Amino acid sequence: MKAIVHQTYGLPEVLEFVELEKPTPKDNEVLIKIRASSINAAEWYGMVGLPIARLGGGLFRPKDIRIGTDYSGVVEAVGKGRADFKVGDEVFGAKHGAYAEYVCVEKIVIPKPQNVSFEAAASVPIAGLTALQGLRDFGKVQAGQKILINGASGGVGHFAVQIAKAFGAEVTAVCSARNVEIARASGADDVIDYRKENFTLGNQKYDLVLDVAGTHSWQEYRRVLNPEARFVIIGAPKGNRLIGPLAHVIKIKLGSWRASQKATFFVAQFNIDDMNVLKEFLETGKLKPFIEKTYPLGETAEAMRRFGQGHAQGKIVLTM
Ligand SMILES: NC(=O)c1ccc[n+]([C@@H]2O[C@H](COP(=O)([O-])OP(=O)(O)OC[C@H]3O[C@@H](n4cnc5c(N)ncnc54)[C@H](OP(=O)(O)O)[C@@H]3O)[C@@H](O)[C@H]2O)c1
Repeated sequence: MKAIVHQTYGLPEVLEFVELEKPTPKDNEVLIKIRASSINAAEWYGMVGLPIARLGGGLFRPKDIRIGTDYSGVVEAVGKGRADFKVGDEVFGAKHGAYAEYVCVEKIVIPKPQNVSFEAAASVPIAGLTALQGLRDFGKVQAGQKILINGASGGVGHFAVQIAKAFGAEVTAVCSARNVEIARASGADDVIDYRKENFTLGNQKYDLVLDVAGTHSWQEYRRVLNPEARFVIIGAPKGNRLIGPLAHVIKIKLGSWRASQKATFFVAQFNIDDMNVLKEFLETGKLKPFIEKTYPLGETAEAMRRFGQGHAQGKIVLTM
């Protein structure tokens, strides 16, 4: 099968389009013929080999050369122990090595909603789970709350706007002018162009800020937080070469140490229950992925280069 691998760490040039052996499912696995996958920061950091990521992934070179996580596709074979899927089922989920034509999956696999394309389904897992868990579990979002999403038009951000609306919140989206339409189409009640206006200098106060872009200091963010507000750190610019976005996390945690507002950072967790929540959002039209562009698998390096610029409009998707 065709797959993307990287033998070393580095910029997208390290990605190779190669032939690998087609996997065979174990008794507890299903073999999926992948139709689409998508790009996330997880793959970016795994590819460049951020020192902190190398601790688990291989110090000098990747232990596992495969890459990719989100997928959608069709079940091609099922292990003896799997009665829950049959050949031909359309599914989506997450599994390491998804930038490939096939993957064997045990855990994160659920039926794909009939009403969405393979491309749309493959854009959801990591970014959707991050938005859902950030808002619901760490932000404790409530209907009627005023929420600000800083970085509202990329993969995580545009899903966060839609999910916050599904929870009944009033959403202010921060993005650049060219993405105002995406933010509005996602349901944002108000949109702030960060190039024209610094929202941290405004008079509006928020009950919850979802910090996807990580572009301000705690002192600045704090000005727009209600006394009991929650502040959820999702990400930050790719800048710091040693610890990446964790530099921003540490600064915010230190700055907010004695504050009345709670600042939290989390790493999204895969689980079937939350995948099913996202599936229902897709089925009911509450979640509508916006896809900037789809690239064939062989052009993954180009897609990754585009993602690395940090200005994706919605999701960047690969097709097989
Ligand atoms: N904690 C977790 O579990 C988790 C999981 C997934 C991702 N993340 C993190 O979340 C972040 C976003 O990931 P993503 O996949 O959504 O990336 P993405 O698709 O590249 O989106 C980044 C967005 O940030 C916006 N942006 C850039 N500069 C900005 C600024 N100064 N002010 C406001 N917005 C700005 C961009 O909008 P414009 O084009 O309009 O500038 C772009 O839409 C990354 O830092 C990633 O590491 C964390």
